[in-house]
Amino acid sequence: TELSRIRNFSIVAHIDHGKSTLADRLIQITGGLTDREMKEQVLDSMELERERGITIKAQTVRLNYTAQDGNDYVLNLIDTPGHVDFAYEVSRSMRAVEGSLLVVDASQGVEAQTLANVYQAIDANHEIVPVLNKIDLPAAEPDRVKEQIEDVIGIDASEAVLISAKSGLGIPDVLEAIVNRLPAPTGDREAPLKAMLVDSWYDAYLGVVVLVRIRDGVLKKGDKIRMMSTKADYQVDRVGVFSPVMKDWPELGPGELGFLTASIKQVRDTRVGDTITHEKRPCAQMLPGFKPSIPVVFCGLFPVDANDFEDMREAIEKLALNDASFTYEMETSAALGFGFRCGFLGLLHLEVIRDRLEREYDIDLVTTAPSVVYRLQMRDGTVRELHNPADMPDLTHVEEIEEPWIKATILVPDDYLGAVLKLCEERRGQQRDLTYAGSRAMVVYDLPLNEVVFDFYDRLKSVTKGYASFDYQIEGYRAENLVKMQILVNDEPVDALSTMVHRDRAEMRGRAMCEKLKELIPPHMFKVPIQAAIGGRVIARETIRAMRKDVTAKCYGGDVTRKRKLLEKQKAGKKKMRQFGKVDIPQEAFINALKMD
Ligand code: GTP
Repeated sequence: TELSRIRNFSIVAHIDHGKSTLADRLIQITGGLTDREMKEQVLDSMELERERGITIKAQTVRLNYTAQDGNDYVLNLIDTPGHVDFAYEVSRSMRAVEGSLLVVDASQGVEAQTLANVYQAIDANHEIVPVLNKIDLPAAEPDRVKEQIEDVIGIDASEAVLISAKSGLGIPDVLEAIVNRLPAPTGDREAPLKAMLVDSWYDAYLGVVVLVRIRDGVLKKGDKIRMMSTKADYQVDRVGVFSPVMKDWPELGPGELGFLTASIKQVRDTRVGDTITHEKRPCAQMLPGFKPSIPVVFCGLFPVDANDFEDMREAIEKLALNDASFTYEMETSAALGFGFRCGFLGLLHLEVIRDRLEREYDIDLVTTAPSVVYRLQMRDGTVRELHNPADMPDLTHVEEIEEPWIKATILVPDDYLGAVLKLCEERRGQQRDLTYAGSRAMVVYDLPLNEVVFDFYDRLKSVTKGYASFDYQIEGYRAENLVKMQILVNDEPVDALSTMVHRDRAEMRGRAMCEKLKELIPPHMFKVPIQAAIGGRVIARETIRAMRKDVTAKCYGGDVTRKRKLLEKQKAGKKKMRQFGKVDIPQEAFINALKMD
């Protein structure tokens, strides 16, 4: 296809503002799909993604559209994940297209994710077309929302397209806006192949499928290609497009988005952001900004029932095939038996993988306290990585403990700036920069990753009523005064709850964890002391009182159904517990104990 007849775009929106509904409409109106296929929702297909309201894997669809100017256009829509854990994936997908539709619910206005995502689009130099959705709702205020887009985001919204994705109103205007207002891609067909690896995933029938955006040159079936970062060579088996189902295609030229397969064994052999070129006639330079995604949060995953271990191993291997940023190795623990130490991009990534293991593979899990990767400078001059606080060696051998720090960028309306600064200071943050753009402030902080991974994002959202957007990158390691804090339940240390903390914050965190655990662990027939300790010295303590015999006693009167419900709930809760000595600890306690409010 000629470059001038191609438009590549993404849709950025806050959750629930109608991204999927609009995408479905565009697919339907351009005739890509039958009604039945339509129902099976092409974009956003994974059950889990739908339930959690987040999109994890980028998806693409190629639409054919005859515009009012009489010309035929190819429109490539790329769907992007919307959460900060996957910020790198989002930024890569954004760089694969030239424009964005900014969808804003006309009854709600601009919200946090709108901002976070639109800044990614601006960073990628996109032309942006504002689209106001849900104008069928009586509460819709398109004029107010237009103004808000101009004030808060700083882009012209006077020509925003007004639509109802639900009823189909205004969809033809969206298509015209894509053709007339978004730029065509550029590229050189005669130059050596230069393509970006936008995404990849494992398909049960095809093996690894790679989503590519061609910059220069032409990609064909049978070509010998090279992944420039890993220098691995492959022969291309198939080249195709998503229409939206995968369809073989003779070739992909400059400006085009499509897929290739090349007998690649594992997703981890493909790196998002990498440059693909021809083995024989390679391009001179890689595309800029490539960085492999590395896991930054580690935790142990153990089956509640030891008999599930083999099933779990199989499930984990399968998940890892499809997710290059998820790592695992076997681990054994005195209290928990056999399990795996796993690495993730962030806490959401961890929760997604854990949920999939539980739901798709039906395995009950205990998740141990998540930890970032520490670096130990040993007295003997060697350096060790510590993925698990429980493995902390004898301190007499350790010269220094280093922890990862990040550079965090936060955009927030003025009114909430104070709350954001306070939060960052509480988390040992060091302010680097503070600037204003209209009524919004941009704050840049250095923060220890350890203080951010568990609940920083949630806290930030809550103190700013959802109006802050947040992004971060890892900056490097710093030596800090860190200590290992143990938690003793009923006088027994529970390794799975051990954490590394800053000495100055140890008492506060110890107290917070004991208080949290007191709420999270149900009462037993005896009293259960909970203590936080550093090197044998107890720094905080709480006690769970012994339970009264009859749990149903506190229900009023003789409400039988209520009693039954309570007992059933207890039974269900039981399944998700794990015994430590004589004490049952619920599964969610291991993560929730670390969240601070
Ligand atoms: P995520 O997939 O969760 O990110 O959400 P999304 O942005 O894709 O939103 P989605 O398309 O799932 O729409 C969210 C809700 O808004 C659904 O219940 C839609 O039916 C509804 N909705 C979408 N467009 C319109 C519209 O034009 N008018 C009205 N009244 N409702 C709409």
